[in-house]
Amino acid sequence: MVAEKFSKKLFSVTLRVWRQAGPAAPGRFTDYPAANVNPDMSFLELLDVVNDGLTIKGEEPIAFAHDCREGICGTCSCTINGKPHGPGRGIATCQLYMRSFRDGDVIVVEPFRARPFPVVKDLVTDRAAFDKIMQAGGFITVRTGAAPDANAIPVPKQDADLAMDAAACIGCGACVAACKNASAMLFVAAKVSQLGLFPQGQPERDQRVLGMVGTMDAMGFGNCTNQYECSAACPKTITHDFIARMNRDYLKASFRSAFKPASSSTGGGAG
Ligand code: SF4
Ligand code: FES
Repeated sequence: MVAEKFSKKLFSVTLRVWRQAGPAAPGRFTDYPAANVNPDMSFLELLDVVNDGLTIKGEEPIAFAHDCREGICGTCSCTINGKPHGPGRGIATCQLYMRSFRDGDVIVVEPFRARPFPVVKDLVTDRAAFDKIMQAGGFITVRTGAAPDANAIPVPKQDADLAMDAAACIGCGACVAACKNASAMLFVAAKVSQLGLFPQGQPERDQRVLGMVGTMDAMGFGNCTNQYECSAACPKTITHDFIARMNRDYLKASFRSAFKPASSSTGGGAG
């Protein structure tokens, strides 16, 4: 009786998955029927079950990226029914549960589609372009061994809160996949703001925004045309207000860089 009360109604779906053997291979959708789906399974657990079935049959399992499975690492990026990270607001693919779907649904699963994120295999894309942007300024320099206590440098509460909001970015790339221009502005704005809001981030502030925006452009990401699909798709609900903040930073840094004395060694990047 108790078991009956807590038993879940199992259902069936069809996964329509993009299969692509390698970066240069042609891709196509393949249907995989899945029966006995528990509504409390995560979407990635369903992919695991489908892959177990494929392996038993001697077929190639579906390649998909994942690591933490709790919305932290940003690796589980794919597009589900046309939306990066699928239906639901403020969640990564690994936080999506099968109760979001209905019996008989056909669920279309494909990799993020953006030129700077080439497909490696099936649902896995290469997002090294984000690493290149981070290398261009996503850091602060501190004197190791003699760093002062963190709380010795007062930070206004409003700035600390904003920096924490920006630091929630997990670098998943959903903002790029959601944008018709494949713009990385939300990602770059989050990283620039996270560091630029703290006193410790001031020495490289101009260099950072110029370098990161310049690298973003060089990597082939598009520009922002105020569609705000990025914030809507972001699993951390990072607001597009950060893009306006970054644009202001970029403008000021460009101005200072253009008029800096010839002997100065600071500045650089996109200009
Ligand atoms: S801004 Fe949001 S969508 Fe873009 S990379 Fe960061 S977490 Fe992902
Ligand atoms: S697997 Fe880490 S965020 Fe989804």
